[in-house]
Amino acid sequence: MTMPMPRPPLDAAAPSRVDAWIERLYGPQCSLLGPTAADEPRAARPRVLHVTALARRGSDLATVKIGAGSPRSPHDFFALQLARARCDVIVIGGQLLRDEPELDFSLRGPLAPDLRAWRGARRGDASPPRVVVMSRSGAVDPSHPLIAGAWAHAPVLLATGEAAARRVPSHAGLRVLPFETPGLEGVLAWLHRELGSRLVSIEAGPGISSGAHARGLVDELALSVYEGRPLPPAQLGEAPFTRERLARFDWQEGPREIEELSGPWQFSRHGRRP
Ligand SMILES: NC(=O)c1ccc[n+]([C@@H]2O[C@H](COP(=O)([O-])OP(=O)(O)OC[C@H]3O[C@@H](n4cnc5c(N)ncnc54)[C@H](OP(=O)(O)O)[C@@H]3O)[C@@H](O)[C@H]2O)c1
Repeated sequence: MTMPMPRPPLDAAAPSRVDAWIERLYGPQCSLLGPTAADEPRAARPRVLHVTALARRGSDLATVKIGAGSPRSPHDFFALQLARARCDVIVIGGQLLRDEPELDFSLRGPLAPDLRAWRGARRGDASPPRVVVMSRSGAVDPSHPLIAGAWAHAPVLLATGEAAARRVPSHAGLRVLPFETPGLEGVLAWLHRELGSRLVSIEAGPGISSGAHARGLVDELALSVYEGRPLPPAQLGEAPFTRERLARFDWQEGPREIEELSGPWQFSRHGRRP
């Protein structure tokens, strides 16, 4: 099955609050501004986009653990919503589903209607993305709102190992994808082959995303970097973003600094050419 994706011309003159936010985050030259076409896939897999919130740990950048004490930024929130509005598939880890019993990936906040319209204009289709849950254990709760019926396109796809797949209870909102060895490469190849997927957004934490970076699978990285007070070690995860790793990308937009109530933040995009 291939995702239908006709691409009508965009009205370049139409003022858009989404464009105003994009420009604030990534600058007036950002390639997402204006009459851009939908994202083109790689030859044998979708393009991979990773949006992440980081903070300084020495000279490196470490993942911020999301929780009650983590610094807030409406612009970081927008960056994640923008990725949801662009992609046709969102990838998460099983732990996130267990940690967040309310998660449903709907477009939220005051810009949600604008983002929905932007998605429709950019892709020719405003329908929601699919969600892939990567899980070695296969431990997912079928009554979770994401599976039991929410915004994301049903059924949710569960990528797991063959033995774990046999233990997953069957549910109309869940399609199990058994892999000999579960991993992002296999998931991307499946999405390309079966759904004609073009752009996948990784919303997973460092376990899945740092492996994806190490194996050169990430085509685009959107960074929200908290530059305020140093965060305590307990609020920081792995530190996968060394300067050397960022230097492996071909192009960069930003960084642009924005002062939030929580302190200063910097926003940038980094990408590899197709
Ligand atoms: N700052 C940010 O932007 C950001 C974004 C996301 C998360 N985080 C933070 O990062 C921390 C960890 O988040 P997370 O649990 O989503 O991280 P993760 O380490 O990426 O995901 C872990 C889960 O993914 C599954 N998994 C990992 N590798 C797999 C593979 N090769 N094949 C199949 N499944 C695999 C496992 O599920 P099973 O246990 O079900 O086997 C595992 O529990 C949290 O503190 C969170 O707040 C931060």
